[in-house]
Amino acid sequence: MKQIQMQDTYIKKIKEINKNQKYAILTMGCQLNENDSERISGMLEKSGYTKTNDLSKANVIVFNTCCVRENAEDRLFGKLGEVKKYKEENGCIIAIGGCMMQEKHMIQKIQESYPFVDVIFGPHTLQKLPEDLYNSIIENKKIEDILDIDGEVVEGIPTAREDKIKASVTIMNGCNNFCTYCIVPYVRGRERSRHPQDIYNEVVNLAKQGYKEITLLGQNVNSYLVSEKAKGENVDFIVKKESGDEYKVNSFATLLRLINEVDGIERIRFISPHPKDFTDDVIDAIKDSKKVCKLIHLPLQSGSTEVLKTMNRKYTKEHYLDLVEKIKNKIPNVQFSTDIIVGFPGETEKDFEDTLDVVSKVKFEQIYMFIYSRRVGTVADKMENQIDERIKHQRFDKLKKLAENIIAEKNINYVGKTELVLVEGKSKTNEKIYTGRTETNKVVNFEGNENMIGKILPMKIVSEHMWYLKGKYDNI
Ligand code: 5AD
Ligand code: SF4
Repeated sequence: MKQIQMQDTYIKKIKEINKNQKYAILTMGCQLNENDSERISGMLEKSGYTKTNDLSKANVIVFNTCCVRENAEDRLFGKLGEVKKYKEENGCIIAIGGCMMQEKHMIQKIQESYPFVDVIFGPHTLQKLPEDLYNSIIENKKIEDILDIDGEVVEGIPTAREDKIKASVTIMNGCNNFCTYCIVPYVRGRERSRHPQDIYNEVVNLAKQGYKEITLLGQNVNSYLVSEKAKGENVDFIVKKESGDEYKVNSFATLLRLINEVDGIERIRFISPHPKDFTDDVIDAIKDSKKVCKLIHLPLQSGSTEVLKTMNRKYTKEHYLDLVEKIKNKIPNVQFSTDIIVGFPGETEKDFEDTLDVVSKVKFEQIYMFIYSRRVGTVADKMENQIDERIKHQRFDKLKKLAENIIAEKNINYVGKTELVLVEGKSKTNEKIYTGRTETNKVVNFEGNENMIGKILPMKIVSEHMWYLKGKYDNI
């Protein structure tokens, strides 16, 4: 809190010198990164800046970077080349934050090749942006504000949210798993859970503002409070509810049950759980909690037990399939989505076939597919049996084809059925068409009106298309 009060003094100082200035923000990563961007926007808007998407008009340009895969880096460097001319023309401030700034070689590259960048900050110092920005404006000097140790959980950062219906709420930061391909544990540090009272209060506040859907975010949500427990801390937290009643939260399952009680919130999602930590109490909580969507994102990464072992995922192909069966048996009509990496070092044709086999068996609703990308500092980057780029792409294409076939097959099953759709807004391309999502996160487009926004309405699915379903409001 003290930190936030101090930042408030910088916010006031910026506001005094800020004459109707604008900011632009480019978010390059995952939903946690997007959630951080909403905080960056919150701090900038409180400092008097208004948002613009036109980079040439912005007085402050913030990049919120990602380093999970190489293509996110390529995008940053492409954009930095573009903003250089705006810096030269109007002297805008350029700030770069996010996970990539926790990598020393990246900071070095920016300082050498893009010396016009004014402020560098990281996920652990995000809350200090007002101070860093002020010092950069007043003293006209370059600021590098990076913390190598894990940042503490900071509450009370102003937030400007992108959406009015759906909101994400971070429940924990960091990761302890060290999957061998992944840079996240190195840049986001060890797991730290937020206090359940803070999470509850944030969700209640969102409900009061009219939000209907909440996504609970963390690198490994079903480890919520687990690290704290392992350190011997007392994690039996008593949360005071709006009604005045008290509720004990000591795990992810109990947190889910608590959030399910928040009036006004109608859908709850969470990303991402880890299959190895998917305990029965979580399955029961999903089953019992009406608002928790029966679509579970369960990252597979690979279907091969051998590859999973070298990935340090700590489960086997059979364990994953058994878990899916167990969840299906307990929760009727449950669906799954997943993340898959192809071309991990040492992946043979046989290993890849195992991935295809799991995909065919589970019949995921959605698959986020990634080509393995070498990350400096990770264990897998040092493995000698890296896969040829051509083979990686061939496998990716093959997986994509299978995934599309399954999605098409599943889409057909929707036609003729009535689905409950949370209406999100107008379609970007057609004035008359509105768009929303089913509980299984399928996009449904339909003819509608403004009054439908924010409501969960029955839609008859009239046709299917690869990336969306066409619906008709059942009461029209
Ligand atoms: N290469 C490719 N994909 C990766 N992911 C994480 N690290 C890498 C990497 N080095 C994917 C995983 C993870 C998702 C967020 O990104 O599938 O679940
Ligand atoms: Fe990365 Fe694995 Fe942690 Fe997910 S669980 S953030 S893939 S190390």
